[in-house]
Amino acid sequence: MATIEESTGTGVSFALTDEQKALRELAREFAEKEIRPKEAEYDEKMQHPADVIAKAHEVGLMNLHVPEEYGGLGLTAFEGMLVGEELNWGCSGIGTSIGANGLGSGPVILFGTDEQKAAWLPPLIESPILCCFGLSEPGAGSDVASLKTTAVRDGDEYVINGSKTFITNAGYASWCVVFAKTDPKGGHKGMSAFIVPMDAPGVTLEKHLDKMGQRATDTSAFALQDVRVPVENRLGEEGDGFKIAMATLDMTRPGTAIGAVGVAQAAFEHAKAYAVERVTFDMPIAMHQGVNFMIADMATEIQAARLLCWQSAWMLDQGAGREATLYSSFAKRFSADMAMKVTIDAVQVFGGYGYIKEYPVEKLMRDAKLFQIYEGTSQIQRLVIAKEIFLPRG
Ligand code: CAA
Repeated sequence: MATIEESTGTGVSFALTDEQKALRELAREFAEKEIRPKEAEYDEKMQHPADVIAKAHEVGLMNLHVPEEYGGLGLTAFEGMLVGEELNWGCSGIGTSIGANGLGSGPVILFGTDEQKAAWLPPLIESPILCCFGLSEPGAGSDVASLKTTAVRDGDEYVINGSKTFITNAGYASWCVVFAKTDPKGGHKGMSAFIVPMDAPGVTLEKHLDKMGQRATDTSAFALQDVRVPVENRLGEEGDGFKIAMATLDMTRPGTAIGAVGVAQAAFEHAKAYAVERVTFDMPIAMHQGVNFMIADMATEIQAARLLCWQSAWMLDQGAGREATLYSSFAKRFSADMAMKVTIDAVQVFGGYGYIKEYPVEKLMRDAKLFQIYEGTSQIQRLVIAKEIFLPRG
């Protein structure tokens, strides 16, 4: 079978169209005017950025991939890269809050029936409501198939019981795609996915988690006790849940990866500016090889990560299906680890000043860490990559 590279027959261009340049410009301007002025305060207060989300919604920087027939912009994955980098350059806590509807709505966009899409997607476009992705549990994060939440069929309804944690935006979401076992003994084949309104009786928000970084993004835990949803809220068939989760993550991991690039780009810009300004031994520290080599490596690795993200988005836009899995994990693994290294080095360039909150790079270092954990740790990305290399795809 031809690979994606072989089948297109067209050359690769990195030139953006005028529309793509304008989109990136809009996102950069939004990040400068609406996000940057608030990033430190919202980080400190762990404040949910409802006001910024509402503005992002108003100017069309949210729900980018909702298809046009459901009122959305229907932007490509590649165009999502241009927006995601800039918003996360502004602040990845606020950027993640704005972007996380992509993960929440992903299963509906990919696997919903026309009726489900018509019921759940247009409201996201009409007002700045949030949705979330209810996969992780207190005892099941990396090992998705071991989750314990159950959904038992009772006539035309399912009754859902369990706990979810580490769920982005759950504390403010209107609905959640909850993954639960319809066959608790069936391993990954016993899992199904349900759209659950967060105000359904039996859904209880347990806590907003107090995180190290990306503190402006709400990350919450909630319980489901005898929560009833109609059968129409099940996505796909019983037993499709695992594949729905994996295919959604294939689609969203590049978007998360480009967020890490945005954070690293911000750290690089701060480090570069400081290196020119700060003088030691009678010269700007940018003149010392120990510093300028660090900055040269930052620039190189940021660009490498950006290109991996762009390629993984391009694969999705070609309709690559399972072929995209490998590239999504390449992008997520490399970008997350790169952002961690770049932000640590940015703190190093700032020296003592880098370690105190008055300067911006310590926040970026805290923020970068989360990219190595959520939407699949860097170790899970390596596991996916190794499986794709050594095992034939199902
Ligand atoms: N697309 C479609 N099908 C897939 C798939 C994919 N990307 N990956 C695997 N599958 C299929 C396999 O082909 C296999 O199919 P068959 O049953 O037909 O053989 C089946 O699914 C099982 O696959 P594996 O044996 O590879 O499954 P596994 O149990 O070993 O798990 C894993 C694989 C990669 C470790 C997976 O569990 C995983 O990705 N874990 C990380 C989960 C994750 O990212 N969690 C983050 C939660 S979201 C979040 O963080 C956001 C937030 O809100 C904070």
